[in-house]
Amino acid sequence: MNHDLLIENVNVATMSGGDYGILMSHDVGVKDGRIVDLSPSNDPRASNLWLTPGLIDCHTHLVYAGNRANEFEARLAGDTYQQISQRGGGILSSVAATRAATITELVSSAQVRLNQLCREGVTTVEIKSGYGLDLESEGKMLGAARLLTGANIKRTLLAAHSIPSEFKGESDSYVDQICNIILPELAGECDAVDAFCEGIAFSPVQTQRVFDAAKQFGLAVKLHADQLSDLGGAGLAAENQALSADHLEYTSEESVRKMGDNGTVAVLLPGAFYFLRETKLPPVEQLRKHGVLMAVATDHNPGTSPCLSLLLCMNMASVLFGLSPLEALLGVTSHAARALGMQDEIGTIELGKRADFALYNIDHPRDLASRFGVNPCVGRYLGGVRQPD
Ligand code: NIG
Ligand code: FE
Repeated sequence: MNHDLLIENVNVATMSGGDYGILMSHDVGVKDGRIVDLSPSNDPRASNLWLTPGLIDCHTHLVYAGNRANEFEARLAGDTYQQISQRGGGILSSVAATRAATITELVSSAQVRLNQLCREGVTTVEIKSGYGLDLESEGKMLGAARLLTGANIKRTLLAAHSIPSEFKGESDSYVDQICNIILPELAGECDAVDAFCEGIAFSPVQTQRVFDAAKQFGLAVKLHADQLSDLGGAGLAAENQALSADHLEYTSEESVRKMGDNGTVAVLLPGAFYFLRETKLPPVEQLRKHGVLMAVATDHNPGTSPCLSLLLCMNMASVLFGLSPLEALLGVTSHAARALGMQDEIGTIELGKRADFALYNIDHPRDLASRFGVNPCVGRYLGGVRQPD
């Protein structure tokens, strides 16, 4: 067959069938950006290289300005994330810096971060707005995300991230603004709509209003749910057929059951758990019991997870949350694709899927979760095109 690209004699972790789907010493053929051939290699030598689906970071806040390491210091001195938020720091501190930044500044700082993520084999990244909180600045953030290069970018509108200072004490009016102005104007600039359902952010009733507005524009929804307390956010997300509910440290079993019933993916974010020194673990055993697929993401953001290593997050998901190395790798491939509604396109190595791959110098795919502080990635392909290092 006439291929555009033939990757010869690699071990393949296809990640299909809910397993590593291992094919030792195979050739992988690509035509027009799609996988068209997977066949045993004629080369008699054993390969020491492993090809996996390109990794997917399905929850990030990669576009922002400013620096919040001062909040890290404050928390170590005894403040809580909520206290910092209530005195106008936290998300609102990033909002002030992001509103003041030009789109060019946002693109150049986010591009550096994206390159860092990609170095480990990431090929798809979801990026949320949410540090603009007005039409112009949310649009600027989504516009910046569109201009990034080197990975597939999925953009999520997170105007319901926090109540901006100009709406202090009038959160319902800000929700009106989101539903009537921001979301309708930016519906064409995003792939999904997210909200932060929490005591310091939006109530379940307000979240439902944002979801209803998103649905009017045919947009998928997802939710920052039950990160700091249980408001039933994950259950609400599931009832709305959300693609995912994310964080989930305080999620009840009732909500987990609803997630299982509705096929809502659980996106686990161990970087934020670690950095906030949270002690309440997400209900991993219940998620397994109710058949909820688990994804793992960096949640990269300046306040709660300034982490740019998806491999480290896999390791944290295993060490801190108890995911097996297989679950951790499914969490950044097949299940992460599902959290973005892209399971027909990416996330596994199967005929017809997009030729997005990562190439690793490892002994077995379990090494990707078991090591940390190491980058074994030696190649990356986007639509069958080898990417520069
Ligand atoms: O995913 N939980 C809300 N949103 C972010 C944090 C945002 C911030 O503190 O800037 C998160 O952890
Ligand atoms: Fe987040």
